[in-house]
Amino acid sequence: MTTRVPIVVGNWKLHKTVSESVATTDALVDLLPKRGRAEIAVAPVFTALMGVAAQLKGSRVALGAQDLHWEAKGAFTGEVGPLQLVDVGCAFVIIGHSERREYFAETDERVARKVRSALDHGLKPIVCVGESLQTREAGDAEPHVVAQVDAALQSVQPADLASLVIAYEPIWAIGTGRTASPTDAEQMHAAVRAQVQRSHGVPAGEGLRILYGGSVKPENAGELMLQPNIDGALVGGASLDAASFAAIVAAAD
Ligand code: 13P
Repeated sequence: MTTRVPIVVGNWKLHKTVSESVATTDALVDLLPKRGRAEIAVAPVFTALMGVAAQLKGSRVALGAQDLHWEAKGAFTGEVGPLQLVDVGCAFVIIGHSERREYFAETDERVARKVRSALDHGLKPIVCVGESLQTREAGDAEPHVVAQVDAALQSVQPADLASLVIAYEPIWAIGTGRTASPTDAEQMHAAVRAQVQRSHGVPAGEGLRILYGGSVKPENAGELMLQPNIDGALVGGASLDAASFAAIVAAAD
């Protein structure tokens, strides 16, 4: 029996203005039961962080950002760093999402620096890993994902793993309506956990939370999260609507 606390995170990506983000947050806070087993976070665009933070005060929902720069300050035009995220009330930060890896030249090395910086500033990294369809069809999914995890955790200590979350998001399942089967997802999650137990020790690996992401919906969330190594969900499309996100949280609760 697992004692890991499930966690459900909504990644709003490049959707919603400030007022739309605030309205969705209000609706979500209204819909959610005041207490529940799961931890919850939403990650709006940078410009909406402050507005959403104000609406989340006193609720059970935490705030997350979708990226950060590893430097705390300096001449880095256009970047947002850990101090700003903490200042605005973020507890979590998504790092290494496949969309950043694909469109914004995010590398394993940059992911590792961001993870270290987030931890050093008291932010909880949600580290995303996942394989392309081509990699899966070539039979290389597991070594690919395990290598991404190894790279991201290279300067992470075992004790840090209590405040870090990994999200396995197969790229072919993101926004496609095509979910990994619970069995396939579970197999990957178990492989990731086994690897982290080898690299960081059994207790730290056992406590690490590993989320599944990729077309998670109210209809499939329960079955996915019933798998022993799936500790929650990172939700894109279905998190944009308060009712469907609340239904996914209900499955985790
Ligand atoms: P979808 O839930 O829209 O497939 O997105 C998943 C995702 O990328 C979350 O980070």
